[in-house]
Amino acid sequence: MKIKLSPRLEVIAGCVAGVESMADIGTDHGYLPVYLVENALVSRAIASDTNLQPLKKAEKIINEQQLAKQIETRLGSGLSVLKPGEVDAVVMAGMGGLLIRDLLEAQPDVARQKKKLVLQPMNNQAVLRKYLEAAGFGIISEELAREGDRVYEVIVAKPGKMVVTNPLEYELGFEFYMHKHPLLGALIDRKIFLEQQIVRSTRGKTTAIAAKQWKESSLFIEKLNEVKRCQSN
Ligand SMILES: C[S@@+](CC[C@H](N)C(=O)[O-])C[C@H]1O[C@@H](n2cnc3c(N)ncnc32)[C@H](O)[C@@H]1O
Repeated sequence: MKIKLSPRLEVIAGCVAGVESMADIGTDHGYLPVYLVENALVSRAIASDTNLQPLKKAEKIINEQQLAKQIETRLGSGLSVLKPGEVDAVVMAGMGGLLIRDLLEAQPDVARQKKKLVLQPMNNQAVLRKYLEAAGFGIISEELAREGDRVYEVIVAKPGKMVVTNPLEYELGFEFYMHKHPLLGALIDRKIFLEQQIVRSTRGKTTAIAAKQWKESSLFIEKLNEVKRCQSN
């Protein structure tokens, strides 16, 4: 029986489609490359992880689905497992935005040789977008996926120039102004919720760092509410 993906992984798979080969960095369970090959969305894949336990999980499902000829597993950190130009697309999903940034930065030659990078940072999305811009990548499209009360941001980038017309795009992505994604309201609500947690935890604190964080988060909530009001008009 073919495997079924969660809504988040399904959106990521949709962003990968259209290339011949892909590598899933930090594959864990290996569902994504298995789904992509099983559904003929790519013809070959590399499933890689820095930890042996997850890689063994991936190997198990690859063997169960009889896909070992098309999906190779590799143990190692980030893009160090790949040669430049070896696959068309690289996915880094379900990891922190800072880790994704560091892994791209560690192997710039490999990162640049890809037709596309499909990145799904769990946090620090703005930091990652700023890094992509500074490192000479352009964001070609973005998608949102929802699971319960969480909204996931999926960034598709390739070497090129990024044109940012509003600083809020670093936080909310292109969806902010390109087209009204049906999940944009939910994304803004989620960000407001997370910032409110920061405001609560830093309120009344006397350290300079806490006071700065409180102010930044309070201002950001105001901006997000403003975007929400504009969206609904
Ligand atoms: C939360 S899982 C995400 C799994 C899958 N990509 C997804 O989105 O469902 C993160 C995986 O990244 C792996 N990982 C962490 N640091 C890594 C690194 N430097 N290089 C490769 N994999 C890494 C972990 O071992 C873990 O299996």
